[in-house]
Amino acid sequence: MCSSLLAYLLILSQALFQVSCLKFNFPNFQKENDTHLILSKDAYIALGAIQVTPDVNGASMENLSGRALYKTPFRLYKGNGSTVATFNTTFVLNILSQTSPGGEGLAFIITGNSSLPENSQGKWLGIVNENSNGSAQARVVAVEFDTRKSDDAEDVDDNHVGLNINSIHSTKEVSLTRYGFNISGGVDLRVFIGYDGKNLTVFVNEILILSQPLDLFNHLPEEVYVGFSASTSNYTELNCVKSWQFSGIDIGGGGRNWKWIITIVVPIAAVTVLVVIAIVLCVRRAPEDEDLEGGRGNIEDQIIRSNLAPKKFRLKELKQATGNFSPKNKLGKGGFGTVYKGTWKNKDVAVKRVSKKSHQGKQEFIAEVTTIGNLNHKNLVKLIGWCYERRELLLVYEFMPKGSLDKYIFYDEKVAMEESILSWEQRRSIIQGCANALEYLHNGCQKRVLHRDIKASNIMLDSDFNARLGDFGLARTIQEKEKTHHSTVEIAGTPGYMAPETFLISRATVETDVYSFGVLTLEVVCGRKPGNQSEQNNYNNSIVNWLWEFYRKGRITDAADPKMDGKFEEKEVECVLILGLACCHPNPHYRPSMKTVLQVLLGEAEPPQIPQERPSFVWPAMPPSFSKIDDSLTGSQLTPFTELTGR
Ligand SMILES: *[C@@H]1O[C@H](CO)[C@@H](O)[C@H](O)[C@H]1NC(C)=O
Ligand SMILES: *[C@@H]1O[C@H](CO)[C@@H](O)[C@H](O)[C@H]1NC(C)=O
Ligand SMILES: *[C@@H]1O[C@H](CO)[C@@H](O)[C@H](O)[C@H]1NC(C)=O
Ligand SMILES: *[C@@H]1O[C@H](CO)[C@@H](O)[C@H](O)[C@H]1NC(C)=O
Ligand SMILES: *[C@@H]1O[C@H](CO)[C@@H](O)[C@H](O)[C@H]1NC(C)=O
Ligand SMILES: *[C@@H]1O[C@H](CO)[C@@H](O)[C@H](O)[C@H]1NC(C)=O
Ligand SMILES: *[C@@H]1O[C@H](CO)[C@@H](O)[C@H](O)[C@H]1NC(C)=O
Ligand SMILES: *[C@@H]1O[C@H](CO)[C@@H](O)[C@H](O)[C@H]1NC(C)=O
Ligand SMILES: *[C@@H]1O[C@H](CO)[C@@H](O)[C@H](O)[C@H]1NC(C)=O
Repeated sequence: MCSSLLAYLLILSQALFQVSCLKFNFPNFQKENDTHLILSKDAYIALGAIQVTPDVNGASMENLSGRALYKTPFRLYKGNGSTVATFNTTFVLNILSQTSPGGEGLAFIITGNSSLPENSQGKWLGIVNENSNGSAQARVVAVEFDTRKSDDAEDVDDNHVGLNINSIHSTKEVSLTRYGFNISGGVDLRVFIGYDGKNLTVFVNEILILSQPLDLFNHLPEEVYVGFSASTSNYTELNCVKSWQFSGIDIGGGGRNWKWIITIVVPIAAVTVLVVIAIVLCVRRAPEDEDLEGGRGNIEDQIIRSNLAPKKFRLKELKQATGNFSPKNKLGKGGFGTVYKGTWKNKDVAVKRVSKKSHQGKQEFIAEVTTIGNLNHKNLVKLIGWCYERRELLLVYEFMPKGSLDKYIFYDEKVAMEESILSWEQRRSIIQGCANALEYLHNGCQKRVLHRDIKASNIMLDSDFNARLGDFGLARTIQEKEKTHHSTVEIAGTPGYMAPETFLISRATVETDVYSFGVLTLEVVCGRKPGNQSEQNNYNNSIVNWLWEFYRKGRITDAADPKMDGKFEEKEVECVLILGLACCHPNPHYRPSMKTVLQVLLGEAEPPQIPQERPSFVWPAMPPSFSKIDDSLTGSQLTPFTELTGR
């Protein structure tokens, strides 16, 4: 009874919460969605996207501008800006140039005036026009994705993001070229824009592009419309928005609106009181509830319902296990939180305390525990349990006495011990263990899991130096949520381990995992870091390039870690290194599947053939002739290039 009451109250309070903020999500756009939008004369919905400027067959696409705004306005602030709303929005844009360069660009706009300014085509991007440019009357703030360099707007290049306030001139501009993105290249770009009341932050494909202090209330009226504008000139392009999600906190109606208080505040207060009562009741009953599987509403129910799920711990137990999270027991620290050593039922465990700052949503936490917790494989770090209490998110793993692999292969003279030099046999077994784990994730479990962040520091070693892949999923969900706080490319993986196409397809695939595995293999055999991580172009300075040079000269085994003192079978080392290079093939279609990798490691198959010279990276990557395709790659996630254009 308690649980259903709680669930009911949660739903009720959620419904009320939704009334009080502007929130919507268009995973794609259907014709019918235009009732929620204010579309300017020429803008329309087609092919699952908003076409902000139209491309009617045969008609000229020159000199057009358009706007598409959400119909319901958003209250941005109250009074003199004493209370300012915050918002987040994520959208996928796809711009395909029709001329070279394309023109002119697309912008996310926040505006007090929903109508499209006249003559706002060309360089004006539908944001302002000749008359309103530079005038406070324009009342518009825009984040532009500009695909043409206009001299009188003093643009840096024809591929940049800019922040514009009542003007086409940007107060801040950042070229996307150095991040490897091409705005008008016809590929999906996932843009995140967040405003915390003080700073406006822009991410493109999870990479921080711009963060600027900005007082929106100085430039905009209290109520604003949000949406997109775009334009073409003599230069043309298809300006599409394929999905759009917005979430803004409402700060209320400025005191005058008593109705608002009665309809929202009173029920919320009532619900709060009920929730408190319910929680008190539930907490009282909790101890006897604990051993009953199921029965509870919300989070716990969902976790417990997935029958194999790991154990639920009480915060008290974990505090006890770790000496109240004593710094003495700290094993390590990452962006996501801190890991402590603990003792539970006379067994050593590792307890990960997810940092409160990491905003990991409860839903992701549930997904984490139910998916990862259900995986069972000798080469995966086992999740023993979890705890969610008093806003603490904790995960309990098996303790790995030897720590992480990176300590051994990037051997540090200062902490060197006899034991820290891995023999060839140990290295081979570690590589095989990782391959086993990855093959299981890709092909062996119910749902395919992409690790996305395979690297030496995520491989743990048990007491017999068996490899255990750890830290998956969690790192991923947190990094996604952490985008406003982390400014690095770490988000899509780790530099040096990322396949060259990652920037272009902007998501993980089976093949990008295989690439990272290849890099890992090379590191383990060569005892060398994956590449100079501070380099802009980590691809050309990578271990892959370095090793391919050895291969070209026909002395690949010379690259083996000198610390092994030559104590290895040359043929074996050669085979593993060639396999590693094959996994790092610049063309993802030519990389072997993990199934093939395993067969090679087990001596059941020859390593794939690789060219003498490292092939250069070409995109779109062409599939090999059919006979060459590794048929165990079925279900591969490489998207055919034609689907990427959004039309
Ligand atoms: C968009 O339209 C589709 C089809 O009518 C509808 O199912 C969906 O709920 C609409 N989305 C929004 C956010 O209104
Ligand atoms: C578009 O505008 C440019 C500059 O204003 C003008 O030269 C050109 O003729 C126009 N093109 C069309 C098709 O109207
Ligand atoms: C806003 O500030 C001005 C001067 O700073 C003041 O005169 C005015 O009363 C304030 N308005 C509100 C609604 O607080
Ligand atoms: C925006 O995202 C940040 C970080 O993900 C989060 O802390 C914040 O609550 C979000 N704000 C809104 C209005 O959704
Ligand atoms: C909004 O913009 C339109 C088109 O530029 C203009 O005609 C109208 O006067 C503006 N409305 C206000 C309230 O500024
Ligand atoms: C637009 O206005 C800005 C001032 O906000 C000015 O610097 C810029 O030169 C103007 N651009 C054009 C094309 O008139
Ligand atoms: C972006 O891609 C388009 C279309 O492929 C091409 O014409 C343009 O030159 C590219 N721009 C940059 C900056 O790479
Ligand atoms: C805004 O950004 C500046 C620098 O980018 C930073 O120093 C400041 O802490 C940020 N403020 C907030 C509230 O995030
Ligand atoms: C646009 O094209 C027209 C005719 O092709 C030409 O006269 C005009 O100068 C061009 N305008 C710009 C701004 O390039």
